[in-house]
Amino acid sequence: MRLPNPRRVSTIALLGAATIALCAPVRSADSPSLKEAFQGSFLVGTAINRGITAGTGSRWRSQEQLDADIALVVAQFNQLTAENEMKWERIHLREGADGYEFEAADAFVEFGVAHDMYLVGHTLVWHSQTPNWVFAGSNPPPEAENAAGNLPPGRFGPRTYSGPRASREELLQRMRDHIFTVVGRYKGKIKAWDVVNEAIADSGTEVLRDSLWLQIIGPDFIAKAFEYAHEADPDAVLRYNDYGLENPAKRRKLITLIKSLQEQGVPVMAIGTQAHLNVSSASFENMDQALTEMASLGLPIHVTELDINSAEGGQRNTRAGIAENASATEGGLVDEAARRLTEAYEGIFRAFLKHRASVEMVTFWGPNDANSWRRRGTPLLFDVNGQPKPAFDAVIRLATEAGSK
Ligand code: XIL
Repeated sequence: MRLPNPRRVSTIALLGAATIALCAPVRSADSPSLKEAFQGSFLVGTAINRGITAGTGSRWRSQEQLDADIALVVAQFNQLTAENEMKWERIHLREGADGYEFEAADAFVEFGVAHDMYLVGHTLVWHSQTPNWVFAGSNPPPEAENAAGNLPPGRFGPRTYSGPRASREELLQRMRDHIFTVVGRYKGKIKAWDVVNEAIADSGTEVLRDSLWLQIIGPDFIAKAFEYAHEADPDAVLRYNDYGLENPAKRRKLITLIKSLQEQGVPVMAIGTQAHLNVSSASFENMDQALTEMASLGLPIHVTELDINSAEGGQRNTRAGIAENASATEGGLVDEAARRLTEAYEGIFRAFLKHRASVEMVTFWGPNDANSWRRRGTPLLFDVNGQPKPAFDAVIRLATEAGSK
């Protein structure tokens, strides 16, 4: 199932771009925006947080800076993903129908609709940023975990819950209720969902991560999540989303998982590859290989969380576990960070363009470094002041060359 081809909506996009061009404060002289430059190839999006949708400055970002961030989002991108506002811990705090908090997610959707953006919901079923109550029940936990006791909440919300557990039926019921409520609320407005996030194990030979979803429900938690989401909104594009898929071993597991879902007739409709990269390993060759193999599944590919870390601490691997994020941006920047960032972006965008028959969407994980979860690794095309970097000019140049061929 493919998205409407951006080539076919070009007139609307052009009209929008023309209006915005008049008021866009931030762009290299005479440069087209990202969304204009890649119009014939794929959507270009960004994740945004509640600061941007609420539109009011904070102690992190003055009103003036925030206004510039918003102008940048509107001028450069035609697709938006909610960075945090639709995660279980933000949208469904307590059990039961009155346990939902929709304010911030509603604001995201209103902002996106007002600006005519293609909206993506992130994410329905994940081992992280999910409250303990989801997994709690009256079944004794397995011995080992019980002995460890409940771990204290981590910086990014509760760590693995280890108290008495829900039964398979209870957890499936909660999952169904959550998916029906959230997907149902935004039906017709959110066009694509990250249905299951990061279910693949990073190391070892097991395909699936040892999460509470897997332990309590069993491996079919993935199929169930997709089936519920499809029932809740038959028109939504349903994605499986994961990180580290540039790593051949993890990619083999992805291919095993997706093929098995396809054989079972599960409605998985797109591959989401997060692409939290680093300047040491991001290259044309590496991305070309990854996209070639992923495209063999016959599904569209969405690059869902793109950034390229330039901090020393993030050069060892492309894992994106949120608990290790602080260490991934430690140690200062690598030597010649700006040049290496430009080369890395140039390489991967060449690969995106080569595979544009499969790549439908490229989403940056934040509009500029100031709004990035890895801001210390200066990973985006726009700096903390929203100014385009040489890497921006490089990808625009590639798009222009590709367009004129
Ligand atoms: C990150 C957000 O960017 C942070 O603001 C938040 O504190 C933690 O989560 N993979 C995902 C995203 O799927 O949801 C994560 O986002 C980054 C890794």
